[in-house]
Amino acid sequence: MAMRALIVGDHESLNTRVREVVLHSGLGYGAVDVVPLASVPVYAGCVHYELTVVVLPRDPASGLETLHDIRNISASILLAVGTANDAKLVLRVLHQGVDEYIDQDDLEAELEASLVRLRVKRDARGSNGRIIGLLAASGGSGSSTLAANLAVLLARRHAQSALVDLTAAADQAVLLDLKPTHTLADLCRNVNRMDRNMFQQSLVLHPSGVYLLAGPPAFDDIALVTPQGVRQVLALARAVFPYVVLDLDRPVRPEQLAAMLQADLLLLVLRLDLVSLHNARRTLDYLKKVGVAEDRIQGVANRYGQPKELPSRKVEQALGVTILHYVPNDPARMNLATNKGVPVVLERPRAGVSRSLVKLAAQVSALQEPYRHNGRGTPDYGTAVADPAQSAAPHQINEVF
Ligand SMILES: Nc1ncnc2c1ncn2[C@@H]1O[C@H](COP(=O)(O)OP(=O)(O)OP(=O)(O)O)[C@@H](O)[C@H]1O
Ligand SMILES: [Mg+2]
Repeated sequence: MAMRALIVGDHESLNTRVREVVLHSGLGYGAVDVVPLASVPVYAGCVHYELTVVVLPRDPASGLETLHDIRNISASILLAVGTANDAKLVLRVLHQGVDEYIDQDDLEAELEASLVRLRVKRDARGSNGRIIGLLAASGGSGSSTLAANLAVLLARRHAQSALVDLTAAADQAVLLDLKPTHTLADLCRNVNRMDRNMFQQSLVLHPSGVYLLAGPPAFDDIALVTPQGVRQVLALARAVFPYVVLDLDRPVRPEQLAAMLQADLLLLVLRLDLVSLHNARRTLDYLKKVGVAEDRIQGVANRYGQPKELPSRKVEQALGVTILHYVPNDPARMNLATNKGVPVVLERPRAGVSRSLVKLAAQVSALQEPYRHNGRGTPDYGTAVADPAQSAAPHQINEVF
């Protein structure tokens, strides 16, 4: 997955020069979008950009407003390009949360140096959290259960994780036996005042190190969850946590789509039966149509190992996605865990289903490791997807039991 950059500005020749530097920086920016100032925040909030460069207009006030809007909805590296002869303006720009100010009279040299500096800084502090979304192909596939367990395991591997419940069912508080005092709906209701502090105060901590942002318990609050609120929540979550797990609903609602477009990896959880296959196909077709990159989507076959289920290879062929992992069917342990409000990886850590989930978390971590430079000017994203030695592929499940 190449990193994406966004250039915002109305000055065509400066935009082009910035684009050239970014594309040829050797830092792995494979896609660069260029949009006018008026298009913000539509673009900055919809897609996750690693880098945003704003070419300031002649009228500094509108430039400052744009920078403020972008910083509010995006955790990307933010650079501003402008003239360096007004020290007060430079300071005001930096006060908007801009990472560095680039003098347009020395554009190429300054921008190149700045990109390298910021990349190194960001890798070192590791603050560019990864967003992993789980969505069910059809009802009861197990996406909420898997999301809770994955969040627990990622917190164990990386000290902490965030879990955001975007579903109408809002099951996560029950699955983790937590009593949240704030929810995603409260944050969305206060979208104009939402900042890092308010976001962190809305989370409820599970003893495993998972910070849950719960879904609204009352049905009439579900409509308060907006795409803008979700984009802002995810930008803040990404800036605070190394991993953010999303429990997603069907992709048809706009706030779900906003979240799916932000995710670095989408796990489509399915059962190996015809209904699940049919709905998985519909989901994939829709995601493709709305612009969710196919290389971000992986399948997870849940409740694997039941009699008469569809052959996994045929399912992969029909869907055209790799099944990253197979989680065995274990109703007894899953029911016990659900009814106790303790994720199965904590309740029965040695069970086959828990060991399988540990492998899934390891695969997700390997896939989503922060960008490492391989010395050849191209990014290296770590282990490949369907390595049978890493994945509990069907033939290995039997060995687990
Ligand atoms: N691997 C498994 N083995 C046995 N039972 C499982 C497994 N995974 C999930 N379940 C059970 O399947 C049921 C549905 O799970 P869950 O609520 O997580 O599904 P979901 O995809 O989130 O559903 P919905 O789309 O309705 O929100 C639960 O009773 C859960 O305990
Ligand atoms: Mg669910």
